[in-house]
Amino acid sequence: MADQYVQLQWVEPGIALLTITREKSLNALNSEVLDQLEASLNVVEDSPEARVVIVTGQGQKAFVAGADIAAINQAPDLEHAHHFAERGQKLFHRFQTSRVLSIAAINGYALGGGMELALALDMRIAAESARLGQPEINLGIIPGFGGTQRLARLVGSGRALWMIASGEPVLAGDALTMGLVDGVVPLDSLMEECLRRARILAKQAPLALVESKRMVVGSRDWEVRTGLDAEAEAFARMVVSKDGREGTRAFLEKRAPEFRGD
Ligand code: HXC
Repeated sequence: MADQYVQLQWVEPGIALLTITREKSLNALNSEVLDQLEASLNVVEDSPEARVVIVTGQGQKAFVAGADIAAINQAPDLEHAHHFAERGQKLFHRFQTSRVLSIAAINGYALGGGMELALALDMRIAAESARLGQPEINLGIIPGFGGTQRLARLVGSGRALWMIASGEPVLAGDALTMGLVDGVVPLDSLMEECLRRARILAKQAPLALVESKRMVVGSRDWEVRTGLDAEAEAFARMVVSKDGREGTRAFLEKRAPEFRGD
């Protein structure tokens, strides 16, 4: 039987937890881990209830210490190496474009492909002890799962190029200052903090939640005019949706809204 490298748990209705469980290799991403992450994302997306997925690494040491360096070293030729990069890129793009919001619970090292996974998720919360970096250059290679593009967009090209070209990691506190992560908490309250955020998101009107993500993720690629048009169109759809009517009416009636997802 194949090793199980990804565990999927429903923490509560609407909130899934994906744990990468290849702890002996610091949760390094090989093809099997990527396949199992994809299969788990499929299960999450197949659940109409799903609102938020939290992704973390098993153990106290690493979120994900990178793509599997042995697998990279053994890539027999250009085509295989190219395919490996595209495989990860496609999977991470699926997280980015999923209707389900995602939170990286960065419990330790998030390096190379591990940092690239975190970058593709919607939010990043790090333990104080975590270190994040793109150390590929120390191996004579560069990031290949989207890091050069997403990091530059998130923290600016100077900081991104520094991290990628020097290979030097940053501590969680510095990552927060740079805007690379969205929160830093002690390791023992990491899951609690991610869950706190996930619960807040999961109780929002489902259609508005999905549109919020679609617009903000879209803003990275769209021209401003395209984004504003998309926003106005989605805003109007939300206003006339049942939940939009309910939410605005509930405010006027001074009561809590009851959202139903339509
Ligand atoms: C394969 C890895 C690994 C990785 C760690 N391990 N990272 N195996 N791929 N990325 C394995 C080690 O070989 C070791 O296995 C075990 O995990 C524990 O790691 P140690 O090195 O013994 O731990 P420690 O001394 O505490 O150092 C921790 C570390 C170091 C600083 C995180 O492991 C490290 O530098 N790892 C590599 C980080 C990296 O360069 N990542 C980028 C990879 S390239 P054994 O069997 O000896 O116990 C990449 C490209 C992405 O991500 C794009 C692809 C297209």
